[in-house]
Amino acid sequence: MSLHLGDTAPDFEADTTEGRINFHDWIGDGWAVLFSHPADFTPVCTTELGETARLKDEFAKRQCKVIAVSVDSVEDHKAWSGDIEETQGHAVNFPIIGDENRKVAQLYDMLHPGEDDSSTVRSVFLIDPNKKVRMTLTYPKSAGRNFDEILRALDSIRLTAKHQVATPAQWKQGEDVIITPAISDEDARQRFGEFEQVLPYLRKTKAPTA
Ligand code: BEZ
Repeated sequence: MSLHLGDTAPDFEADTTEGRINFHDWIGDGWAVLFSHPADFTPVCTTELGETARLKDEFAKRQCKVIAVSVDSVEDHKAWSGDIEETQGHAVNFPIIGDENRKVAQLYDMLHPGEDDSSTVRSVFLIDPNKKVRMTLTYPKSAGRNFDEILRALDSIRLTAKHQVATPAQWKQGEDVIITPAISDEDARQRFGEFEQVLPYLRKTKAPTA
């Protein structure tokens, strides 16, 4: 069954490279990114996990934990981690779920029949502190993901969870935001002070900081 935005992220228990976890307990009070990779000891996945390790502090700044999953064993994940550190310059610093029985892959619909084997596609689930799914991405095995985009989307989703704003195309943290159409001009003035009226339905203001 595929998951939709706003659904509760399925909970599970699993063995990881950092011990056994209950997923919701592991998430705790913050945000989480659960992402799948097709297989250990493969080239694109090696670069992806190295990049995620490099960005650990960026995720931590945003109160977001990261966890990876593939249908390989925890032993394989541990053995592969040496290659990642050696070639990507960053040791894996987040747990990797061993999902040999495909329990997590099935719960999150990460196995796509068109992808011609039983390994997972490159899925990403962004989960909020209430354990709701707030963003999903699905890439084919051949396309390594842009983890800066995941951070950018996390910034947008965290901001818009707190304030009645939306973010435009290519937006980055600190740039102006869009006032959502549901807010009247008068209300907008009270909430945000000055705003730029580009069109009656496109109003821009400084990003709220608090
Ligand atoms: C890779 O990570 O390079 C990869 C894994 C599975 C299929 C294709 C590529």
